Amino acid sequence: MSEKKREEERRRNQEHGKVTELIDRLQERKMLEREEFIYLIDSLDEASASYLYAKARETSKSVFGNEIYTRGLIEITNFCRNDCYYCGIRRSNRNAVRYRLTKEDILLCAGEGYELGFRTFVLQGGEDPYFTDERICDIVSSLRENWPDCAVTLSVGEKERASYEAYFRAGADRYLLRHETADCGHYESLHPSGMSFQRRIQCLYDLKDIGYQVGAGFMVGSPGQTTEYLAEDLFFLHALQPHMVGIGPFLPHHDTPFGGEAAGSTDRTLHLLAILRLMMPELLLPATTALGTASSDGRERGILAGANVVMPNLSPAEVRRKYMLYDGKVSDGAESAQARAELEKRVRAIGYRLSDSRGDSPLWKGRDR
Ligand code: 5AD
Repeated sequence: MSEKKREEERRRNQEHGKVTELIDRLQERKMLEREEFIYLIDSLDEASASYLYAKARETSKSVFGNEIYTRGLIEITNFCRNDCYYCGIRRSNRNAVRYRLTKEDILLCAGEGYELGFRTFVLQGGEDPYFTDERICDIVSSLRENWPDCAVTLSVGEKERASYEAYFRAGADRYLLRHETADCGHYESLHPSGMSFQRRIQCLYDLKDIGYQVGAGFMVGSPGQTTEYLAEDLFFLHALQPHMVGIGPFLPHHDTPFGGEAAGSTDRTLHLLAILRLMMPELLLPATTALGTASSDGRERGILAGANVVMPNLSPAEVRRKYMLYDGKVSDGAESAQARAELEKRVRAIGYRLSDSRGDSPLWKGRDR
């Protein structure tokens, strides 16, 4: 071995030592300094990533055992008043074929989901003015009446605090609203000027304050994202202390201004899942559809990096292809709620099983407050 090669190997070993030391410290103290997060994220290679994943799995197992929580995802509308540069159902996308489900459609989906074993329904949609507070409350209370042992999660965007309060009173337990990025300048580069970073963050704090189990989250590899911004996301999440964090790779949609941008990295997404698991052991961490789209075994790899939730699609088959947030979005096979048995087989193959519970956050103290 030449002197140069030996030197190179010494340097690699040193770096590996530093990275594993940071991972150990993250597990122990659940937080790192900003510069340390940046160093860790930028230095993870295959060997240190498998060390990180093993710790994340161990942590996840200590809280959730080998149970994976499931949610049935119902995409209620792809009309949206917003115009986010990354999203395929943005207002300006004239090629999107728009649809909205009726209350009856939604209840039928939920009934089917219940039979399949789902005990959480996630109603997700664009910001569609048709779905007034009154309509949302009516749908939520019908779901609660028909399936009192199920949780209802809403994911319908930014609303006034009073609206969030009304949905909560109607029986919604959880709310998902990704913050998308914790850097204000970056947020403004992903959204048109009508959308406000401050308002989005305010929504998340309102939701928490009202008593929801709250999910925040971000895309990995969105255009312009730097490692500094990812560290900012971790600090923001540490401050917010959400119950859930949804992260997936950015995937371009050809009919958006970001159609020509590169997709986010699957590996980097897995790194961040595992880092979040070590930061917040009780966190609900879904292996997202975007992760499953980016790589055919993305869901499994997500679970093996510390994820503990899957959210298969319960939407009616005719509308699934219309809820195209990004190119190639998968909605059949194990992504489909109808294929729960297939999903069960896949998670069993890696040593886990699907839970038949509502899958509330271990940090949640219930609705009475
Ligand atoms: N790639 C990956 N994720 C996307 N989302 C929207 N568009 C894309 C895309 N092109 C995510 C956003 C949003 C969630 C519903 O889907 O983070 O909050």
